[in-house]
Amino acid sequence: MNTCASQLAEHPLPPRLLPVRPAQTARRVLAVGLIGPGRVGSALLDQLRAAQPRLARDSGLDLKLCGVVASKRMWLDCDDAELNGRHGGAQIWRPNDLDAFAAHVRGNDGRHALLIDCSASDEVAAHYARWLADGIHVVTPNKLAGSGPLVRWQAIRAACAGGARFRYEATVCAGLPVVQTLRDLLDTGDELLAAEGMFSGTLAWLCNRHDGRQPFSALVREAHALGYTEPDPRDDLSGIDVARKLVILAREAGWPLSMEDVAVESLVPPALAALPLEACLERLDELDAPMAAKLAAARAEGGVLRHVAHLDRHGRASVRLAVLPATHAFAHTRLTDNVVQFSTRRYCDNPMLVQGPGAGPEVTAAGVFADLLRIAESLEARA
Ligand SMILES: NC(=O)c1ccc[n+]([C@@H]2O[C@H](COP(=O)([O-])OP(=O)(O)OC[C@H]3O[C@@H](n4cnc5c(N)ncnc54)[C@H](OP(=O)(O)O)[C@@H]3O)[C@@H](O)[C@H]2O)c1
Repeated sequence: MNTCASQLAEHPLPPRLLPVRPAQTARRVLAVGLIGPGRVGSALLDQLRAAQPRLARDSGLDLKLCGVVASKRMWLDCDDAELNGRHGGAQIWRPNDLDAFAAHVRGNDGRHALLIDCSASDEVAAHYARWLADGIHVVTPNKLAGSGPLVRWQAIRAACAGGARFRYEATVCAGLPVVQTLRDLLDTGDELLAAEGMFSGTLAWLCNRHDGRQPFSALVREAHALGYTEPDPRDDLSGIDVARKLVILAREAGWPLSMEDVAVESLVPPALAALPLEACLERLDELDAPMAAKLAAARAEGGVLRHVAHLDRHGRASVRLAVLPATHAFAHTRLTDNVVQFSTRRYCDNPMLVQGPGAGPEVTAAGVFADLLRIAESLEARA
């Protein structure tokens, strides 16, 4: 249990006397299917179950979880009366079939339907355009559609013309309101001049801790042991995941960028890049000399090292280890914090900052849930 959770357990908040919003007269039903019951998906299922009664009571929204699909299997509401009877209304499982799953959630009674993709699968992302064209809303923390082939991204956006909604807030900095903030700025007539950020909690932690007292490889090993890195730390150190987030933001701002357009400086020495994982972990100390040299150079300038993604007003994008002045906002982040800074025509002299934990199943799931609720708010009641 985290500190906040244990404090809440000891001193529970008083029950709310009034709903936050007045109950709506028209009830809305939203059929929901979850793809990927992994860490984020499981946390989301818990959050959905906990919120269902409150949403039904306070907002007139009935969330109907119709099925869950993992990489091999799917579980659907039992549509066989005889089986239902035998298993006391239990669900049945079948082999994974994404189209059949989507058809099941959509139903044939004209109801609102929404699919949540909590996988990291490109195969799933390849289905979005078809689902959206079929009127099924899609929300996801999966970065592969937003940063994948531009043609596919454009097809997904075009498929929304029929009214289905596609939201992906949690693809950038998990539960932090980054995509929505940028969308609001642009929708209200502001103009993005630059976006800059630290989009990797792992790299933020490594930069914060890299003060010369320990070799960089020892910090990578510690982060690996703490579960801060991906199973293969090169996935973090390569900067590719950060570049994906930058591409998503660039596209949100209207720049048709692809991964090839981002200048990515990898921290992985070329000699380690192609090794099997075990061999790479044994040779991690090859990171130490180049990282010590970068730290010394930063200190000589009176600056700090930070892993920064940058997008300028001309659509130029880069991901690199940068030397920042010690007074820079990014020099004072904590632990694994992510931070995004938007410089716009309105927020010019003093840019807008969004900062906080940018990973973790619970906060990511909450970002996905908030997307679902924004879509639900816009739904009309259907019989
Ligand atoms: N974890 C975080 O803090 C975080 C933060 C921001 C964004 N994200 C994003 O959130 C997504 C989920 O992350 P996670 O940490 O929850 O991953 P995870 O624990 O590895 O879970 C992935 C899930 O996807 C399922 N899956 C894989 N291929 C599938 C397919 N073809 N069809 C249906 N299901 C499939 C897996 O099924 P099996 O169980 O059968 O393998 C598993 O249930 C990823 O896109 C990740 O980048 C995560």
